[in-house]
Amino acid sequence: MVSGLGVAAAAPSVGATSAPTSPPAAATTAGADLPTPLMGFNDWNSFGCNVSEKLIKATADLFVTQGYKDAGYNYVNIDDCWMTKQRDPATNRLVADPVKFPSGMKAVADYVHSKGLKIGIYESAGTKTCAGYPGSLGYESTDAQTFADWGYDLLKYDNCNHLGDTTQAQYITRYKKMGDALKATGRPIVYSLCEWGNLEPWTWAKDKVGAPMWRTTGDISDSWSSMLSILTSNAKLDTFAGPGGWNDPDMLEVGNGGMTDTEYRTHFSMWSIMAAPLIIGSDLRTESPETRDILLNKDVIAIDQDAKGVQGKEIENAGGRHVFVKPLANGDVAVALLNETDAPALIDTTAAAAGLTGHPSYYLKDLWSKETTQTTGVISSSVPAHGTVLYRVSPAGSKVYPPQTTLSGSAPTAYPDGPSLVKPGQTVVVTTTFTNHGTQKVTNASTGLSAPGGWSVRPVGKTRTATVKPGGTSVVTWAVTAPSTLRPGTTSLSATTTYLLKDGRQVSTAGGTALQYAVPIGTGTVALGGASWVSTSNAWGPVERNTSNGEDAAGDGSTITIQGKTFAEGIGTNAPSEVTMFLDGACTSVTANVGLDDETGEKGNAAGFEIWADGVKVASTDMTSADPARTLTAQVPHAAFVTLRATDGGDGANYDHADWGGATASCG
Ligand code: GLA
Repeated sequence: MVSGLGVAAAAPSVGATSAPTSPPAAATTAGADLPTPLMGFNDWNSFGCNVSEKLIKATADLFVTQGYKDAGYNYVNIDDCWMTKQRDPATNRLVADPVKFPSGMKAVADYVHSKGLKIGIYESAGTKTCAGYPGSLGYESTDAQTFADWGYDLLKYDNCNHLGDTTQAQYITRYKKMGDALKATGRPIVYSLCEWGNLEPWTWAKDKVGAPMWRTTGDISDSWSSMLSILTSNAKLDTFAGPGGWNDPDMLEVGNGGMTDTEYRTHFSMWSIMAAPLIIGSDLRTESPETRDILLNKDVIAIDQDAKGVQGKEIENAGGRHVFVKPLANGDVAVALLNETDAPALIDTTAAAAGLTGHPSYYLKDLWSKETTQTTGVISSSVPAHGTVLYRVSPAGSKVYPPQTTLSGSAPTAYPDGPSLVKPGQTVVVTTTFTNHGTQKVTNASTGLSAPGGWSVRPVGKTRTATVKPGGTSVVTWAVTAPSTLRPGTTSLSATTTYLLKDGRQVSTAGGTALQYAVPIGTGTVALGGASWVSTSNAWGPVERNTSNGEDAAGDGSTITIQGKTFAEGIGTNAPSEVTMFLDGACTSVTANVGLDDETGEKGNAAGFEIWADGVKVASTDMTSADPARTLTAQVPHAAFVTLRATDGGDGANYDHADWGGATASCG
């Protein structure tokens, strides 16, 4: 929960803000400036407490041999759990865990330095670290000096186990102590502040405590919903980032296995357009070629590291179709088209909306496919579900590139921006539209639509257009029939238009749409914990039926308990989360006893509970873990779909075990 806002700064500023051109050595921050966002590795996301000198050295080796160092990744960072549970009784200094770091912390730093890389270490501004090792509160000077003596180049400074600070002034005092201590060592040590975005660190971390990067949210986890919720929070803070001070939406999950490669490309594209630190959080020793291709995409990294240092701004979000824009040092603009929805979607904007005007046409370089096309102004693409198309847009020169073209598919939807429904054996009309946005005509445009086996696809009318001029379209209508036996789920229809360029080359553009079949939840009073669910998403582990959320495997929860009150049935989630059900217009209301489960232990955690019917929020309430269960009821007459959504309540997804106790729907 964000509180204590607007409290005046208690501590004097440590220095002027750094200009974009400041060399790294001119430290206006506590230790070392960051003219561009930090790049590197941190062990926490994939290893937790299993850090060791072996892992850190192997990672440094791989930075060099696998091209990471050449791509700009230069900090190898050690997170929590590197030390013993006791300080040295004689010196009060922190002690390396002799099993994990048998050669000591200095030796591993020396090794990483010998590879031409830098090394980071971790502590907490509390009595203990988050994992229960000795904290730095009260030992700031001793610990800063220890890190400097060992040769460390970065300190990640966490927020666990502080003594109940609630105001910005208290946070600033506590974090400034370490900032000053780092500065006093004389060693340039990047001060990486980690208070989870609790008290708006973007307004004080740089100028008041000398930290050139600050976490803006709670911890990321390796799931689409966690990544998206962090992206959403961080995106709003674009005006606070710039050379010398960066919003840090947490470390990368790319390669950890909980998301698809399409989702990981979105993660990496969006961290880059938001000028976020790029800190690899996966095991480089077992990296797949696909993961390596993502992390080493130099064109995308160049967007992140661009010298102008602007955090990309969201200029549009229409039903989960997002457009982000980031001006670049050479006058180009990066444009990200992000499709949050579960079906392919056409997302478009214009060069003018992206801040580029005064030219008859523009080049669009797709930074993932590496293809360049030319447009008279429309910047658009058919983006796969959960995908992101990232363009570098520049004014066109004399060379003519093939036209930018798009292909979209559509079928009637259950509600605006909702899914297109189909029943077994039913025929649905789908339209495909191919559009030429370029400067030259294309010829012989021929469109095909395909569906999985068992489906039938028939064109209604012609599928070929002889000439599609600049600005022109080729529209084809299709009758699509579902098989008579159909399992619940989404079926993707893939469309392709092949056409000839002026020089005779044949090229193609892909697009598509999706049809969904769902089973209604039933009639009478339906217990939603046992009902059929169309889709779910959850920050940690799966959504649970009739228990709380245990965060890891399915079935690891306990009896739903909110302030001592138990519920034998219901739904257990970890916010941010969503559970969508198909009502088929047959239900009148949905009700649940909502609250944060007692097992979270922490008082003061917040979560929002929302009921959405056909894309409209129809009931909501905000809860903290100190609140008793509250009845949340929504009227949902005629709704095709209902979604139970829990948000992180604005305080990050920290143990937000959001329960829907005894959730039911009244259906006809
Ligand atoms: C906190 C931080 C994480 C990680 C852990 C280590 O949760 O936010 O990034 O450092 O502590 O215990």
